[in-house]
Order: sequence, then C-alpha cells, then structure tokens
Amino acid sequence: MNIFSQHNPTKLYFGKGQISQLSTEVEKKKVLVVYGGGSIKQNGVYEDVIKELNKAGATIVELPGVEQNPRLTTVHRGVEMCKSQEIDFLLAVGGGSVIDCTKAIAIGAKYDGDVWDLITRKAPIESALPIGTVLTLAATGSEMNPISVISNWETKDKLGWGSPHVFPRFSILDPTYTFSVSRKQTVYGIVDSMSHALEHYFHRTKNTPMIDGFIESLLRTAIETGPKLLDDLTSYDHRETMMYISTTAFNETLSNGTDGGDWATHRIEHAISAVYDIPHGGGLAILFPHWLEHVLEEDPSRAKMLALNVFGISDEGKSDLEVARDGAKALRAFWDSLNAPNRLCDYDIDDKDIELIIDKTFIKPGVGVYKELDRESVKDILIRSL
Ligand code: NZQ
Ligand code: ZN
Repeated sequence: MNIFSQHNPTKLYFGKGQISQLSTEVEKKKVLVVYGGGSIKQNGVYEDVIKELNKAGATIVELPGVEQNPRLTTVHRGVEMCKSQEIDFLLAVGGGSVIDCTKAIAIGAKYDGDVWDLITRKAPIESALPIGTVLTLAATGSEMNPISVISNWETKDKLGWGSPHVFPRFSILDPTYTFSVSRKQTVYGIVDSMSHALEHYFHRTKNTPMIDGFIESLLRTAIETGPKLLDDLTSYDHRETMMYISTTAFNETLSNGTDGGDWATHRIEHAISAVYDIPHGGGLAILFPHWLEHVLEEDPSRAKMLALNVFGISDEGKSDLEVARDGAKALRAFWDSLNAPNRLCDYDIDDKDIELIIDKTFIKPGVGVYKELDRESVKDILIRSL
C-alpha cells in the first residue's frame, strides 16, 4: 500500500425519514435551494424540503432548471443570485448534476472573477459557501465527495474539478426519494457506480488485498441487486443497497492506499458528453468494456482477478489472457442484460468527430494509470465502441 491520509467531513444522514434532520442543519440561514427540471415537485421531495426549511426559520431563495450535464450558464446565474441576495447556504436537491452545479456556484460566490477561471485552474480555489444536499438519484457519489463536473457549451468542454472546500457539510440520503427514478436512469446509476468501483480497481499499487476485496464485494453486490431493483423499482431494500453502493463507490474510501486507479474511461466519456451531451452512465456502459478489452491484451492480471473474484469464472485449462477476456465479456453481458447502451451509434454518434473527442480527452495531460493511453489507444477504444 501507499501511505495515505483520509478526511471526509461530510455528515451522512442515511435512511427513510432522515429529512427531519434538515431543519437543525440550516437554522435561520438564507438558503439558495438548487434543483433540476422538476422531478422533485412530482415526487413530494420539494414539499418535504420546504417544510423543513420553514421549520428552521430559513429564508428561501430558489434556483430551478439545472440541466443534466450542468452548464456554466446556470452556474453563472446561481453565482449572481448568491452575490446579489447575500445567500449564506446552498442546498442541492437532486442528482449529480444538481449537486455539481451547486458546488460550482459555491466557489463562484466567493470569487471576484469568472468561476470558469477556478474550474479551469487558472486561479486557485480559496473558499466556498457551505453546501448541503438532499440526494434523489443514486449514481455519482457527488453527495460525499469534493468533485464536480461542469459543461461549457460555448467552448464545448466538460471539465471535472475538485476542492476540499466543496465537500457537502451534510447529505441526506433517503432511499424512498429515489423510488421515482425511471428504469433507464436507474440503469445509468448502476453502471456509473460500478464504473467508479472498476476504475478504482485498475490500479498499480502492490499489497492491497483489503481494498481489492472491498471493491470486489461492492461489485458482486451491485450485480446481485441491480436486476432485482429493475424488476421492482419501488423496493426499499434494493434502492437502499444501491444508494449505499453509489455513495461508497466514490467517496474516496476505495482509493485508500492505492494510486487512485485508472479513470481513462471517465476522461473519454466526459469528452464525448462535451460534444454530444449524452447521459454519463450511458457513455460509460459503452466505453468501459472496450477500454478493458484494449488494456487486458497488454496486461491481463487485474481483468483476470475481476473474472475470478467478481464473475466467478473458472480458470481451468485457460491462459491468463483467456480468463481476462472472459471477464470483459461477462461485464459486457451483465450490462447488456440491464439494457444499457453498448454502442455509440445508440446515441447516433459515428466517427466524424473522433479527432475532436480525442483532443477533448487530452485537454489535461496524462490519461490512464493502469495503462497510460496515447492518442492511438484512445482512437482504438473509440473505434471499438462505434
Ligand atoms: O432534472 P431533474 O428533475 O432533477 O431530473 C433528473 C434528470 O432528468 C432525474 N431525476 C433525479 N432524481 C430523480 C429523477 N427523476 C425522477 N425521480 C427522482 N428521484 O434524473 C435525470 C438525471 O439526473 P442527473 O443529476 O443528471 O444524473 P446523475 O446523478 O447521473 O448526474 C450526472 C452528472 O454527474 C456527473 C456526470 O458527468 C453528469 O454531469 N458526474 C459527477 C461526479 C461527481 N461529482 O463526483 C462523478 C461522476 O463520474 C460524473 O462524472
Ligand atoms: Zn461517473
């Protein structure tokens, strides 16, 4: 293992009815409530939140309309509201897009220039307004991590950034709030959570049996629970399990003691989303198995572990490479069984923008840790995915 330190300051309130904790967290504050396209008004979450804020004597200002793949223009609107209305707390009510947008507003509100300078690292992030979240979609882990992803439609960039200043102060995770998530969006959430676990798994650090076993267990649980949840979208037990999986898959626990794993697939997916605005989980479902096929040819060791320990594939009479290839096939077959997308043409994407997508993938240097990818490798993965 590598030396490491761990400090995650987000307080989690997990389980049915935990919204009752909200009033004590925001007492007498002037709160900007940030939300998306309106699902919270259809499923009762909005009413619960407003009731609690009123109980807390909070002053409420609202910013609705955060897009999937949240846009810089909405972040600008939120920053302007914070500055002109002297907001002192931000409450994100929604999925990863709403939370990520809220994190960007939080840093922009404390900065005199354009928040894009902070996201592009032209200026350091020195402070942020405090934020809290009420999660309505199990997928990204944004509710318990310091990361955010923002799309700039003018430049066609989708950039991930992070700062310890934007760890949520608290996050309320009530599985019943995810009952209304559609089947398709639930599939994306399962794929995104599993991808986070998988990308952590493909690291190069030695002697990591505890974290490897933890990731394998998380993946096996997702594989067991995912199909049951899709058969019964309002099952509390299955929603609860998936919610805990998605938060744990990306709250820094899975990188303890390792080099952090290989996030090349996320880099490529963000590049595709920047150009085509596709759902994040859908893009990952297409790309990750092809990334895996690409890297295992050079080094099958971890894909073999995945095959044996997660998919229970037998290695009898097979070479390491054959077992590894069977592991990649098993992952593809599992996501296919959930009806996840498996080709870029599912989103009407062909090869015409491949060079642009590769440029966007290399917007920051260094793509991949398990295998560092060059432009040709990214092209190979994209062509396999068409
Ligand atoms: O707009 P609303 O009304 O909120 O509807 C959303 C949206 O249409 C809907 N939804 C959310 N909760 C619901 C619901 N519908 C019914 N019932 C509910 N309870 O679901 C749709 C998708 O929501 P979105 O927030 O976009 O999905 P997700 O949570 O998957 O977030 C995706 C974004 O997060 C980024 C992605 O790149 C993408 O921009 N990521 C953020 C990460 C992070 N901060 O750590 C890591 C991830 O790898 C990812 O990159
Ligand atoms: Zn993701």
